Amino acid sequence: MKRILVTGGLGYIGSHTVVALQEEGFEVVVIDNLSNSEVSVLDGIESITRKRPAFENIDLRVKKDVEDFFDNYSVDGIIHFAASKAVGESVENPLLYYENNLHTLVYLLQQCEQHNIHNFIFSSSCTVYGEPDALPITEAAPVKEAVSPYGNTKQISEEVLRDTCHANERLKAISLRYFNPIGAHSSAAIGELPKGTPQNLVPFITQTAAGLREQLSVFGDDYPTPDGSCIRDYIHVVDLAEAHVVALQRIIGEKNDANFEIFNLGTGRGSSVLEVVNAFENVSGEKLNYKIVDRRPGDVIAVYADTQKANEVLGWKTKRTMEEALDSAWSWEKKVRGLD
Ligand code: UD1
Repeated sequence: MKRILVTGGLGYIGSHTVVALQEEGFEVVVIDNLSNSEVSVLDGIESITRKRPAFENIDLRVKKDVEDFFDNYSVDGIIHFAASKAVGESVENPLLYYENNLHTLVYLLQQCEQHNIHNFIFSSSCTVYGEPDALPITEAAPVKEAVSPYGNTKQISEEVLRDTCHANERLKAISLRYFNPIGAHSSAAIGELPKGTPQNLVPFITQTAAGLREQLSVFGDDYPTPDGSCIRDYIHVVDLAEAHVVALQRIIGEKNDANFEIFNLGTGRGSSVLEVVNAFENVSGEKLNYKIVDRRPGDVIAVYADTQKANEVLGWKTKRTMEEALDSAWSWEKKVRGLD
């Protein structure tokens, strides 16, 4: 049985990926520093898979602790989620982002070299494309100058991976560029649980519907889009999690075409903010209190993925609809708030 280290494995995407890995027969060890997650996520994972992953509360910025971990555990591959991801916070505190998102990657890659670990999956973002010149966005689209330190950490991380793979040809790495992950596991045992005020659209919607927030602000309705609100590619988090397993199997099975590969992970379909609001009202039966406010600085107008490479080369495609994702996000929110 292959043992996989999942960093940030108690976070939103990480926890769903741990479930998907266990369901495919991988043994999982999680590293998480609980900076944006709860240890009780382990119970949620266990209730779905009947297996509790090994867990180490380690801060990956502490190099000595990272070294000690790899002296104690042997692993066949790493999926590296652990990172900070709030765009606004990264503008306020760039050094926190450069330390959290870059030091940790370097320390992990050093350990890969030290311990002959050849399989590495990285969490990247469609933010690297900035405002794209053409839609849908293919992996060949240029990387644009980052608008935030957060976005810059993803661009630099991909360069770190590219250069490291170039120098060490036994290392196989895949960078997965996520579009907008939403939703929760169908069991409602795990889901997205942001600390503080949600920055992302769907948790803000579900918290508003649950009565935790008074009103959703829709950031702008004067964009050059059909209804004036921004367009994104919302992908069900369980589909996204499954893509990680497929990517890992690709490199473990040495089916990769190059030792550093990049794939977009999206549905290929763009939805506007107002369409998401309407879809949420339809699936939940709740009326959402929202108002149109000014644009949010740094938002791009429209992004959605060209999925051809992921479909044909990676051999993965999404199976779940945006409505299913919104329905599962709402079930999860209700469960967390005791509304069921
Ligand atoms: C953002 C980041 C992206 C990052 C991701 C991770 C930008 C430009 N992009 O994605 O790089 O990987 O978060 O968390 O910041 N919206 C509202 N009201 C709200 C919240 C959001 O109208 O209260 C709108 C936004 O303007 C946007 C859409 O909903 O049009 C999606 O926003 P969000 O969920 O924050 O994701 P992104 O901004 O696409």
